[in-house]
Amino acid sequence: MKVIVLLDLEALYVLVVQVWRLDSSDPEYSLIGHLKKVTCLDFVTCGDQQYLISGSYDSTVKIWDLQKRECICTLEAMSPVHCVLAHPNLPVIITGTEHGIIHLWNSTDFRLKRTISLGGGGPVITLGCLMGSPRVVIGQENAFFAMDIHDDWGGQPQGRDNFIGKFQ
Ligand SMILES: *[C@@H]1O[C@H](CO)[C@@H](O)[C@H](O)[C@H]1NC(C)=O
Repeated sequence: MKVIVLLDLEALYVLVVQVWRLDSSDPEYSLIGHLKKVTCLDFVTCGDQQYLISGSYDSTVKIWDLQKRECICTLEAMSPVHCVLAHPNLPVIITGTEHGIIHLWNSTDFRLKRTISLGGGGPVITLGCLMGSPRVVIGQENAFFAMDIHDDWGGQPQGRDNFIGKFQ
């Protein structure tokens, strides 16, 4: 089934993720579970399964099985979630929060592997990556960072040792 997932960014309180078929003008179904506005979406592939990821101001990230139309896992980010990125070639989901904190989650078992504080600079507003590269870019309002995620990315719980640049 080909689906399109829409977030109505005009609406102040979109708690529901709506899934649409490409050939229909009505939503196919809704995914209900977030308690506050949904801010970001991505897809993650895990084995031969593809899941939808949604981040919300309710400080959680939810993983949705679109076949069963249910939430299979809720990740507690402890701070309103502004952006989410499933890395295309590393088994990692990255989330950026209101309080300038990045979380790295294992995209196989959805466990939290690493918490990185950017040390001020406000909310993390965007995340990006380069296909085929371990490099991730992290944008805040007045700064952005680049970080390489190495094979042992579960190591240090906090730290800025992997940051290779800061631009202001
Ligand atoms: C991610 O989870 C899978 C399944 O539990 C595990 O085999 C793998 O070692 C984990 N990766 C890291 C970096 O923890």
